[in-house]
Amino acid sequence: QTLLELAKKMPKTELHLHIEGTFEPEQMFAIAQRNHVALTYATVDELKRAYQFESLQDFLDLYYQGMSVLLHEQDFYDLTMAYLKRVHDDNVVHVEIFFDPQAHLERGVSFETQIKGIYGALKDAERDFGMTFKLIMSFLRHLEEKDAFDTLALAKPYLDWIDGVGLDSSEVGHPPEKFVNVFRECKSLGLKVTAHAGEEGPPAYVWQAIDEIGVDRIDHGNRALEDNNLIATIKQKALTLTVCPLSNLKLRVVDSLVEHPIRCMLRLGLNATVNSDDPAYFGGYMNDNYAALVEETQLTKEELYRLACNGFEGSWLDQPTKAKHL
Ligand code: ADE
Ligand code: ZN
Repeated sequence: QTLLELAKKMPKTELHLHIEGTFEPEQMFAIAQRNHVALTYATVDELKRAYQFESLQDFLDLYYQGMSVLLHEQDFYDLTMAYLKRVHDDNVVHVEIFFDPQAHLERGVSFETQIKGIYGALKDAERDFGMTFKLIMSFLRHLEEKDAFDTLALAKPYLDWIDGVGLDSSEVGHPPEKFVNVFRECKSLGLKVTAHAGEEGPPAYVWQAIDEIGVDRIDHGNRALEDNNLIATIKQKALTLTVCPLSNLKLRVVDSLVEHPIRCMLRLGLNATVNSDDPAYFGGYMNDNYAALVEETQLTKEELYRLACNGFEGSWLDQPTKAKHL
C-alpha cells in the first residue's frame, strides 16, 4: 500500500482542534436560518470566497463572526457531532478539543448551554464510535486575565467534564505571562495546561509558556525552532508540539508545505504531531493534513509512523487507554 493509503488507514489522534473552527458554511447557514439570525454573507459561496487570510487576525475576525449563530445547546451538539462523524471516517480514534467559552458568553450564551451541547456529542461519539476524548477550555488571550478568572468560576460546576485549559486567539501583544495567575489556579484544580505559542509570536512567548505557565504541551511551536536553547529545553522536557500544517499554510505562517518545519522538528527529536486546528476554514481535516504532508514534503514511512505515535504519546489519555488504541 502507498504511504497515502497507510496515512489514511492508520489510527490517529487529534490534539489541536477548535470546535468552532469546524463550522462548515453549509451548517452555518442552516443554523443561522433556524435561529433567525442574519449572516454578513448572502450565500455559502460568498462566505467561502472570503476564506483568504493574510494573518491569524484576518482569520479570527471571520471565525468569531461565523460562530455568532450558535445559540442553543442543540447548535453546539450538532456542530460537535458533525465534526466527530467526519473524523471518525478519517480513523481518528481519540480527540482533544478546544472550545472558546468567552466567545459565546459575550453573546449571552451560557456556559451550561455550550458545554452540555459539546459534551453530549462527545459522549454519544464515545458510545457509538468507541472514540475517546478530552475537553479543553481555552481562554481568549486578547481579553484580560480577570475575564479568564470569571470564566473559570463559571466552569467550576463542570470540572468533571473538563480535562484541561488552553490559551488562544490573537497571539502577538498577548504573551503567556499575562495569564500566569489564572493558569496557576487551573493547575491547583488538577487541570492540564497547554497554550498556543510560537504560531506568530516570538520564541520568548514559548519560553514563557514553559517557564512561567508550566505547560504540559505547546500548540503550534513553529517559531521555537529559531532558538537552539529552546529546542533543547522542549526536547529535554519531552513536550509535545501540536503542529497544524494546513493551518500554517492558510495563515501564512509558512509560504509552502515544502518548507514546513514538521520534518525538521522530528529530525531534532521533538514530539511533533499532526492536527487540523480549524478544518472548516483551512481546507482540510485530519487525513487532508496527512495527505498534504505525504504529497508535498517527501515524508518517509518512519516519519509517518512517528507522527501518529507522537499523537498517542502526547495525548492526555491514561496509559491503559492508549495501549487499547494501539
Ligand atoms: N483560535 C482558533 N484557531 C486559532 C489559532 N490557530 N491560533 C490562535 N487562536 C485560534
Ligand atoms: Zn489553534
